[in-house]
Amino acid sequence: MRENNWKERGRVNASKRSKDPDMRVTVAGVEFASPVIAASGTFGYGVEFEDIVSLERIGGFVTKGLSREPMAGNPAPRIIETSAGMMNAIGLQNMGVRAFIAEKLPKLRKVKGAVIIANVFGFTIEDCLEVIQALNDAPGIAMYELNASCPNTSHGGMVFGTDPPQLWELVARCKAVARRPLMVKLSPNVTDIGLMARVAADGGADSVSLVNTFVSLAIDVETRLPRIANVTGGLSGPAIKPIAVRMVHEVSKNVTIPIVGMGGIVRAEDAVEFMMAGATAVQVGTASYADPRAVENIANALKRWCSSHEIVQVSSLTGTALL
Ligand SMILES: Cc1cc2nc3c(=O)[nH]c(=O)nc-3n(C[C@H](O)[C@H](O)[C@H](O)COP(=O)(O)O)c2cc1C
Repeated sequence: MRENNWKERGRVNASKRSKDPDMRVTVAGVEFASPVIAASGTFGYGVEFEDIVSLERIGGFVTKGLSREPMAGNPAPRIIETSAGMMNAIGLQNMGVRAFIAEKLPKLRKVKGAVIIANVFGFTIEDCLEVIQALNDAPGIAMYELNASCPNTSHGGMVFGTDPPQLWELVARCKAVARRPLMVKLSPNVTDIGLMARVAADGGADSVSLVNTFVSLAIDVETRLPRIANVTGGLSGPAIKPIAVRMVHEVSKNVTIPIVGMGGIVRAEDAVEFMMAGATAVQVGTASYADPRAVENIANALKRWCSSHEIVQVSSLTGTALL
């Protein structure tokens, strides 16, 4: 019975079959030409990739995290390769929201079809509000992604996204000022990701994205020193994919707002897996380090996958895993 169900939702009979699958998805009222989006921190401010990737062919991209003031980031080494992944402690280096608006956004807005999601973070709620308010007046941005994995310095440095009351307050206050849809990027470093998604939704989030990186540690056994200067770093890449897929599934059982899934996607089938687990769209991060064209290649491969599986609308894949 359940098997027939996904076949009905995903397939169409021969008479209705068209050559090109419909790859459009809608997240919080924003339409994307493809569900494959470039993840924050791995795609610069978008313009750096303009000559490498055709920005109108991918779903869109998320900017590097933007803060109120420019940030220099952490000392090196801040990126290392691990088994099937990488660890980073870039320290949220960025040019600051005002420089982004003045120097990068005007060029980006000229790129036809590029859906721009601005990633926002701060170390206090007021910082986040200031970044959102600055972006509100800047044209050409489709949506905000609020990074909830930052420490709240007004509350002893506890990460917003690991404490339900702090997450709720962050989301509710950001939502109150945001003049564009607000997607909240959840921290995976929690026991109950479903609860955190519910808190974000209760606070007014229009969508949730997950996962950010997992706190991790690597030690050089010869020097006995941490391999990353910051000591700990965030683990990403294929190593985290099964955990991320499990988390997307848990979140899908807890909220009705759209979910954007990520963590270790390197090929079309990975994107399909996240969608079947409950994601409406996906993001690709670490894969862009191995191949700067990864996002576009995965978007194209996903379209071919849909064609070869007689999927007429990619959006019909969401939540169809037989779990
Ligand atoms: C080098 C690097 C920098 C990142 N910077 C940010 C950032 O500024 N803001 C953010 O929300 N996520 C950031 N992330 C997390 C990614 O957007 C993504 O959530 C995570 O890497 C999991 O996806 P992946 O396995 O496809 O890379 C960064 C990841 C990497 C590898």
